[in-house]
Amino acid sequence: MPEEMGQGVVVTDVGPRDGLQNQPKILTPADRILLINALLEAGMQQVEVGAFVSAKAVPAMAGTDVVLENLQERAGHDGQVLSVLVPNYRGYELAVAAGARSVCMVLYGSDAMAQANVRMNRLQAESAAAKIIGQAKKDGVRVTSTIAVAFECPFDGAVDPGLIGEIVRRFLDLGADELCLADTIGAANPRQVRSLTGSVIQEHGAEQIGCHFHDTRALGLVNVYAALESGVRRFDASVSGLGGCPFAPGASGNVATEDVVMMLELMGCRTGIDLDALLRASELAQSLTGTAPGGRASAWLKRRKTHL
Ligand code: COA
Ligand code: ZN
Repeated sequence: MPEEMGQGVVVTDVGPRDGLQNQPKILTPADRILLINALLEAGMQQVEVGAFVSAKAVPAMAGTDVVLENLQERAGHDGQVLSVLVPNYRGYELAVAAGARSVCMVLYGSDAMAQANVRMNRLQAESAAAKIIGQAKKDGVRVTSTIAVAFECPFDGAVDPGLIGEIVRRFLDLGADELCLADTIGAANPRQVRSLTGSVIQEHGAEQIGCHFHDTRALGLVNVYAALESGVRRFDASVSGLGGCPFAPGASGNVATEDVVMMLELMGCRTGIDLDALLRASELAQSLTGTAPGGRASAWLKRRKTHL
């Protein structure tokens, strides 16, 4: 095993946001809080706990202010970060008013995806994001910039890696704390991932670079591995593989957190996550949403537990 594999890896569970926003069943804030607490109990270093978006556009995220306010006493515990997604400046203001100390804002690899998601073109979304970063720096709020459709757009097709490189450069210069490359529709292949993450890390180092993969074509985990080999040490994943994007046709769930954590731990990467507690969070996610288990690791973990 290469020595650098032994380093810690930060896994962010985006299930309570990316996962729940695409479920037919809408959970109450109380149930969302139960799930988030189970993820924090499992030792998750970061959880994306909701989104400050229009309730008309994404009904499942209504009440994120209630979720966040109820989690306040946990925020900052053991360095665990609670993050919320903000699509525009209004979302940022609402998030901060509800006590958010960490936000994730979205950039785009294509105009069409920006239009579908927030009714702005790519450059308008970048201006909104630049304004958010400016204010967040003054407010002492941590900012993750996620580039949606960083590899392929469901409307405009292949995305130029050169364009993504420019966006990464611009937003790291503006002061983003973390820059996440998102394969929103699960269309990337490992060679492409290796190439883009390799060039971004060569230019900026790995500290602030993350990846977000969907498992639409069963390439989620292998794309995590490709990025890991380039040096990426931050990954988004979703408990029980919940997820999708209501505005990106063809997107299915995120790569399952259980699968990512199990692979990383088997490879000697420390995640700080307790797999048995993660399995409990996964079972809770399934019973709350009424979905079948996603990913592959949870079935194995369950069998191992019942045979002990
Ligand atoms: N949160 C809550 N309400 C918001 C908001 C936000 N972040 N931004 C705008 N609004 C409100 C406005 O105040 C306005 O309210 P009103 O009708 O009572 O006056 C209404 O929404 C429409 O505002 P407008 O600026 O015209 O927005 P829009 O209708 O073009 O929708 C978004 C834009 C960004 C609000 C909407 O598309 C959205 O929430 N998208 C989120 C997409 C998403 O979460 N995708 C998945 C994650 S990548
Ligand atoms: Zn996603």
